[in-house]
Amino acid sequence: MDFDLTDEQRLIRSTAREFTDNEIVIQSRENARNHHFDLDLVKKVADQGYLGAVVPQEYGGAGLDYLSYGLIVEEIGRGDSAIRTVISVQTSLVCSGIVRWGTEEQKQKYLPKLCSGEWLGCFGLTEPDTGSDAANQRTRATKTDGGWVINGNKMWISMANYAKVAMIFAQTDPSLGTKGLACFIVDTDQPGYKPQTIEHKMGLHGSDTGSIALEDVEVTDEQMLGGVGDGFKVAMSNLDSGRYSVAAGCVGICQGCVEESVKYSTERQQFGKPIASFQLVQAMIADMTVKTEASRMLVWRAGFLKDKGQPNTLETSIAKLHATESSLECANMAIQVHGGAGYVDDHPVERYLRDARVTTIYEGTSQIQKLIIGRQMTGISAMVPA
Ligand code: CAA
Repeated sequence: MDFDLTDEQRLIRSTAREFTDNEIVIQSRENARNHHFDLDLVKKVADQGYLGAVVPQEYGGAGLDYLSYGLIVEEIGRGDSAIRTVISVQTSLVCSGIVRWGTEEQKQKYLPKLCSGEWLGCFGLTEPDTGSDAANQRTRATKTDGGWVINGNKMWISMANYAKVAMIFAQTDPSLGTKGLACFIVDTDQPGYKPQTIEHKMGLHGSDTGSIALEDVEVTDEQMLGGVGDGFKVAMSNLDSGRYSVAAGCVGICQGCVEESVKYSTERQQFGKPIASFQLVQAMIADMTVKTEASRMLVWRAGFLKDKGQPNTLETSIAKLHATESSLECANMAIQVHGGAGYVDDHPVERYLRDARVTTIYEGTSQIQKLIIGRQMTGISAMVPA
């Protein structure tokens, strides 16, 4: 494996770094303080081509490889996980699914508007009683002449209030189990789509999270993504991309923790010396650095396999597990390095910890990633109790 980035990838990374520092970092504290979902900033992100990085150019995307996408997401994640979440959801959970499962008409209808940021999308898989057990969808799609009527509830959906396009997973026939699941591309302007903001989150204050009530939402047959029975595979393949994106964003949090800790500890004086002179402080910086580098390599490996078109569910789960857990540990250590100064939002490390917390939960908990890894290694599923 070649660890060198190409010249183009280096340029993509430095451009994303510059964009993050100039446009995102300067807004992130105020947006978090004000719980402000910054649509102006989302527009700038879209103008950079970051909402459709891996979408082919013929559909309005940037046509980049997964490794390059990961480099962009890492930089944005260093700046603000709330904005990084927009990129992950839009690019991975919505656009990548349409690229893989969509008809030509669906690709032409949705992708250019999603890539340009004219429309935002959301991913409606999770329900109040359906989280890790994603196949157990209570939302129902009932067949009508030429279409379907959808009823149900979704929960913890990023951009539920702002999306124009919602990917809604629903059961068409409970007796078929996963084979009855289908994914529908719902126009949120339709009557019966009722989003509601979820308040009082621990982190991601600059992002939108909501529940969705679906009351007799009508869709045509043409709005189904894939066929009846493909719904679970659509969800899982989108999550293969989404988990990669979350992992890359968490490498950014880790990197931010290292950079902020080096900066602070070389400036802050105690006992007449910079605190970076003390071995116990250096030990924390060394631990953070190792976690950052290891997470980055795991993300790059998953991206490398995606770009070669090889199976990568295992490697993606390993990267997601390691990078998300590392981001939490690094943020906690970075606050320790900052002492009292890290406990308020003068430095980004306080926000890093609050924003990192959800990453070991959403898009598959750490426990689900371990079960996926364990099943792959042993050939035995420990997911369903015997
Ligand atoms: N790609 C394509 N197909 C896949 C796949 C993948 N990555 N993984 C599984 N499949 C297919 C399998 O091949 C299988 O197909 P067949 O029936 O034809 O053989 C079918 O899907 C069922 O596969 P499994 O037996 O592996 O499914 P399972 O029931 O064992 O899966 C699970 C269990 C892994 C726990 C899965 O339910 C899971 O990942 N749960 C977590 C859900 C999750 O991540 N939710 C987060 C939602 S997103 C979010 O957080 C919201 C947001 O806005 C941020």
